[in-house]
Amino acid sequence: MKFLVINGVNLNLTGKREKGVYGTETLDELNAKIAEYCKKNGDEVRFYQSNVEGELVNALHETFLQRTCDAVILNAGAFTHYSYALRDAISAIDIPVVEVHLSNVHAREEFRKTSVLSSVCKGVVCGFGVGSYIAAMEGLKVSLR
Ligand code: DQA
Repeated sequence: MKFLVINGVNLNLTGKREKGVYGTETLDELNAKIAEYCKKNGDEVRFYQSNVEGELVNALHETFLQRTCDAVILNAGAFTHYSYALRDAISAIDIPVVEVHLSNVHAREEFRKTSVLSSVCKGVVCGFGVGSYIAAMEGLKVSLR
C-alpha cells in the first residue's frame, strides 16, 4: 500500500520536548523506523509535517485530488482536540485516515480525551509511540486488502 504519514503541530519537536511523554527519538528518527518497516513489507510511505492548520488541510486535499496515496496516518497533535477544519477535510476526502498519537491521550489531561477527528476517521491508535503509526498501517492493510 501507499501511505502518507502526516504529523501536525509541535510534532517537529518530538525527541526534544516533553521527553518523558513523547520519548527521546526525533521525528526524523521515528520516520526512519516507519520507512524501514514499510520497505520490509513492500509498502510505500511519504512523510509530511506542518505546524500550520491550513497546510495540513491542503495536504489532505492534495493527496485526495492527485490520488497520491491509499491511506493517511494522521497525528494532528493538539489540532486533534478542536480543529473542525481538519475534521471537515477528513470528511471531504474518500481516502481512509487513521488518527494516531504517540502518547495515550486517554491517560492524560481531560482536554486530550476529546477528539473532533475520531468519528470521521477509519480508526484510532494511541499510546504505542512509533508503534501507533505501524499498528495503524497494519490495521489498514488487514481491513482494506
Ligand atoms: C499527541 C497528543 C496531543 O494531545 C498533543 O497535543 C500532541 C501530541 C501525541 O502524539 O501523543 O502534540 O498527538
